[in-house]
Amino acid sequence: MKFFVDTADVSEVKAIAELGLLDGVTTNPSLVKKAGRPFKELLQEICAIVEGPVSAEVTALDAETMLAEGRALSKIAPNIVVKLPLTWEGLKACKTFSEEGVGTNVTLCFSANQALLAAKAGASFISPFIGRVDDAGNDGMNLIREIRTIYDNYAFETEVLAASIRSPQHVTACALAGADVATVPAGILQALVKHPLTDKGLDAFLADWKATGQKIV
Ligand code: E4P
Repeated sequence: MKFFVDTADVSEVKAIAELGLLDGVTTNPSLVKKAGRPFKELLQEICAIVEGPVSAEVTALDAETMLAEGRALSKIAPNIVVKLPLTWEGLKACKTFSEEGVGTNVTLCFSANQALLAAKAGASFISPFIGRVDDAGNDGMNLIREIRTIYDNYAFETEVLAASIRSPQHVTACALAGADVATVPAGILQALVKHPLTDKGLDAFLADWKATGQKIV
């Protein structure tokens, strides 16, 4: 499973990239607002750090303007992926971009049927929002499983990009369900390495090693 970081904060992208485990980045208008910086400027900086796909979301509601916005965003760097909302207009723009060879991430997916439409429109990625499905009282992980099954049934190439991840448990569940990618907030990605028994075990090994009086180098 690939790891993307879900942030528009360049310092977070840098920190996660330094771990050597970063496959891409997703941004959205709310994350850009939180970053408090010009969108195109921060995309340029993120694309200079990360070789993998960097999702940049359009804000128009009609396909024609989405295409204009997506083309402007694509010019920023070759690894920009145009993020489009899961609406008829978004799907129309997705189909055109797919024919032109422009990478797309269809976002705000909350049902398997929506995901089926995105795959048929040639999306590079589909973003089911599992945390928000959970918030609404349903099972977000079930959505990932349904999409995985449907895409495998018909050999769709669209990658399942699990989004709206709220915990390390979500990450494990996504990997078990066969998501191609999980886009994860930086704090949760960093928490994945933590386990109290690792810390306890390491403390004990180091104390015993010290008692031997030896050195490796
Ligand atoms: C995905 O691309 C979105 O940016 C993100 O995962 C949404 O997460 P949220 O529901 O925590 O806002």
